[in-house]
Amino acid sequence: MHSYFSKASDGSIPITRLLAPEYKKWLEGQSDFVRNWLSSLHVKGVSGEVLAIPSPSGAMEKIVIIDNISSGLWDYASLPSSLKSGVFHLDDSFNIHQANLVFLSWGLSAYRFDRYSKKDRTFPKLCVRQDVDLIEVERQIAATNLVRDLINTPANHMGPVELAESATAIAHKYKADISIIVDKDLIPANYPAVYTVGMASDRAPRLIDMRWGSEKHPKITLVGKGVCFDSGGLDIKPAAGMLTMKKDMGGAAHVLALAQMIMDADLPVRLRVLVPAVENSISGVAYRPMDVIKMRSGKTVEVGNTDAEGRLVLADALHEADGEKPSLIIDVATLTGAARVAMGTEVGVLFSNNNEQAQQLVRMSHEIHDPLWQMPLWEPYKSGLKSKVADLSSTGSSAYGGAITAALFLSEFLENKTLWFHLDVMAWNTNDKPGRQEGGEAMGLRALYAFINNFVKTA
Ligand code: BES
Ligand code: ZN
Ligand code: ZN
Repeated sequence: MHSYFSKASDGSIPITRLLAPEYKKWLEGQSDFVRNWLSSLHVKGVSGEVLAIPSPSGAMEKIVIIDNISSGLWDYASLPSSLKSGVFHLDDSFNIHQANLVFLSWGLSAYRFDRYSKKDRTFPKLCVRQDVDLIEVERQIAATNLVRDLINTPANHMGPVELAESATAIAHKYKADISIIVDKDLIPANYPAVYTVGMASDRAPRLIDMRWGSEKHPKITLVGKGVCFDSGGLDIKPAAGMLTMKKDMGGAAHVLALAQMIMDADLPVRLRVLVPAVENSISGVAYRPMDVIKMRSGKTVEVGNTDAEGRLVLADALHEADGEKPSLIIDVATLTGAARVAMGTEVGVLFSNNNEQAQQLVRMSHEIHDPLWQMPLWEPYKSGLKSKVADLSSTGSSAYGGAITAALFLSEFLENKTLWFHLDVMAWNTNDKPGRQEGGEAMGLRALYAFINNFVKTA
């Protein structure tokens, strides 16, 4: 159990929730002392406020959080930072659902990326509650924090080698098989796009391939974009665009964390994880715009822009995934700026070849406050991917619909009608918010886990 949770509850201070419309009435029932105290603090009684209620002697007697009927995960995330230290417990005003949200947000708030600079700080403890499945909550916190750590680690310490080492550590922990195809071996192994995108970097490209679970179980294959740094290649990014590109292995971070959750929960799944790990760099051997790559699938692709590298490495990995005809393929990628233009920074974009299943995932994502929204694989736009010299262009020439075009490009490498989810996510908080530090962030991770949990139940 993590140190911000506590088994013993002796002497702990209760936290109670009060609905905003009931604040006035509640206030009337308080002593003059408490009323004066709250009025001197200019408490308004609006949702989100956290009130420390003193005893007549001035000790902290209880905590009141002003709540909203439709409160979500992050509405509770300011609790730990306002309490600072001490030991607390939730009283009966929190139902199971709300209590679970508090526990999850409590743990997620505790995260700091402190690899390079450790700062002393206090953090309050929350006492366990019978009805909260702490193992499950801690599993989700650990996975989210793994995503955050992998992304936040700067590219000089999280290159293709280190990403493969992180995958290996997870594989060993859960006794999964792992194999890694490195550098020039990618050519005979037929991962031409992975090799081509990664070959300009001194840190050689590699294909990480992990397998776990009984072959009797339904096969789920996860594919994650592992671009450890995206300079844009010869189509180099401007400084502002390059600044956050250590996060371009965010998709890989998500699928490794999802794999960790699946294995930790011992779900009845035959799991496979494929991560093309590359650095999109520049050198004398860098791939060029208008180069033509003969992909793993045999299709030829004309490189429209070397900054559209993610779809190339994913295409090889997706084609390999598809060849085994699993029950479900999921890829996660920080694939396009266009997805961010469409959805902003907080909502992940989902594409799928099955609208019903996609809508179920969307529904679940909102229920658990890990939002996704579906965009269409709009077939007519496929014509935009035509090339005069190859089977396909990687980008086409249209300036519009970039997230859809990228998803359609990927779909060209799936031939078997397998259920497929493609997530185009930000994987990054652009500023500090309650419970969410600026930097790497898991987006859609818990939603996918919830979907898979349900998927294996009904399979
Ligand atoms: N890694 C980027 C996409 C990205 C940019 C994700 C910013 C999140 C935030 C990707 O490799 C890329 O550069 N895509 C290009 C594609 C274009 C050249 C067709 C883009 O989206 O601009
Ligand atoms: Zn790029
Ligand atoms: Zn990229």
